[in-house]
Amino acid sequence: MTKPIVFSGIQPTGNIHLGNYLGAVKNWVAGQAQKINYFCVVDLHGLTVPQDPNDLRFQTRSLAAMLLACGLDPNQCTLFIQSHVTAHAEASWLLNCITPLGWLQRMTQFKDKSAKQESVLTGLLDYPVLMAGDIILYDANEVPVGDDQKQHVELARDIAQRFNSLYEEEFFIIPEPVIPEIGARVMGLDDPTAKMSKSSAHIRGHAIRLLDEPKEIERSFKRAVTDSGNEIQFSDAPEKAGVNNLLGIYKALTGKSKAECEADFAQARGYGDLKKRVAEVTIETLAPIQNRYHRLMDDPTELDRLLAQGAEQARAIATPKLDRMKEMMGLVLPN
Ligand code: AMP
Ligand code: TRP
Repeated sequence: MTKPIVFSGIQPTGNIHLGNYLGAVKNWVAGQAQKINYFCVVDLHGLTVPQDPNDLRFQTRSLAAMLLACGLDPNQCTLFIQSHVTAHAEASWLLNCITPLGWLQRMTQFKDKSAKQESVLTGLLDYPVLMAGDIILYDANEVPVGDDQKQHVELARDIAQRFNSLYEEEFFIIPEPVIPEIGARVMGLDDPTAKMSKSSAHIRGHAIRLLDEPKEIERSFKRAVTDSGNEIQFSDAPEKAGVNNLLGIYKALTGKSKAECEADFAQARGYGDLKKRVAEVTIETLAPIQNRYHRLMDDPTELDRLLAQGAEQARAIATPKLDRMKEMMGLVLPN
């Protein structure tokens, strides 16, 4: 049986945090051997809101190094920077020319983001077309994303279907969004009713960033919002959301069952013990990742080599697919 093809992207903006790691990256690492995986640092998507050029450059390399440090293995998956494979930008133009404007104006992320800005960039509207190209250039079957991106993957399906019906049935594979179970969602430590997010990761006490120092991690957990009770159990009750989140993080980090996690805290004297232990486990998990990250960032030649290798593998798939698209649409390929 052929292995399913997986494509996912992550934006190099904001600080990568424990929610990204537990909800996304850790699963990517675990699934590397079973499927054919493409992981992309989507710097072109980053440009859809204003960026400082030096920041964007640094964050793109830093995120790629962090993904490698988390365990993405360039011998098992293809990790690359989106702008290194020019087929992505080109495919988005071609797909723009078959995508009705109304489809894009309906996207809830566009409506939310544009409502917050005075001047809305064309790229922000076009964002899901670029994303559709990312996915369908690789014939991806599965697209692991958070639930906020489900609508964009559905749009990618619509765009792929439209291309197929205009030019050639079954040319593009129709991708499926793969949404992690709700339990995989890490909530903000400062507000356990809202998910931990990159855009709020700079706010003190909101997130554990993967590069936080042990002291900072202890401090953030210590300040985590809980309730006035003391029982350390999984619970769906809204007032228990804080404790539930801390236990959920502990469970995800240790790989233990719910019962085992609760048993670990049966003797605890209160939430202080829980916070301390979760901080310890987090620090233990992040220490080797941080080490590997710093080693890669200190060796730019090696990082560049790995990224060049990833881009070359990606190009080998994306470029021929793009050329077929061009031909079908009536463009003349150069000799
Ligand atoms: P983002 O930070 O929105 O660019 O998301 C990158 C990846 O991390 C996506 O697959 C998200 O579903 C995942 N992710 C982001 N925030 C969380 C969170 N708080 N808990 C679990 N997964 C998350
Ligand atoms: N839009 C996605 C996000 O913000 C990132 C992304 C870009 C992506 N291209 C993709 C995700 C292709 C999956 C597949 O999370």
